[in-house]
Amino acid sequence: MTKWILPAALAAFGIVAFVAAGMDLTRASVRSTSDPSIERGRYLVLIGGCNDCHTPDYVARDGEVPEARWLVGDALGRTGPWGTTYPTNLRRYFSEMDEDTWVDHARTLKTRPPMPWFNLRVFTESDLRALYRYVRSLPADDTRVPDYVPPGQQPRTPHVIMTPRLPDQRK
Ligand code: HEC
Repeated sequence: MTKWILPAALAAFGIVAFVAAGMDLTRASVRSTSDPSIERGRYLVLIGGCNDCHTPDYVARDGEVPEARWLVGDALGRTGPWGTTYPTNLRRYFSEMDEDTWVDHARTLKTRPPMPWFNLRVFTESDLRALYRYVRSLPADDTRVPDYVPPGQQPRTPHVIMTPRLPDQRK
């Protein structure tokens, strides 16, 4: 009788572990390493608001966008006095740059609006590395966002006009 206890306990443990692994499948499938900085990078992406622009529909869907779609860039233009910009596909961007290059680049990086490039200057070196490692842990995505459109030219994609308006302005 007692000789069955150990195998039964092991089997039960196996089932629990299997179910637990399955529940975490969506996250495990986008991460292949246990480097703790990756989890830190994911946290920085969330609190840094990077998904708000770099993930399509993230704000419109109250953040309910599967991680598999995070940071792939957005073809919805952001239009203002600077022209029309498109949030970069960060998976593609980081795949074309090594980690040390990114750390150097982030120190001097300055983009057109509405990218809050000045917030990146606050990141410590280890934060920049964690961010990089997290994005590189996501599956590759080579989608290109449309090219920047200079001021005065009409974008050929849907775009959000970000110019402030006075209350009595009709158009
Ligand atoms: C309010 C919208 C917005 C938010 C929030 C935002 N970005 Fe951006 N980001 C953009 C846009 C738009 C561009 C393209 C700018 C351009 O074309 O000049 C961009 C470009 C970039 C680039 C490319 C810079 C280059 O060298 O061309 C990087 C890297 C980047 N963002 C990282 C981030 C990270 C990391 C976060 C979160 C900490 C973040 N962004 C948050 C809108 C945003």
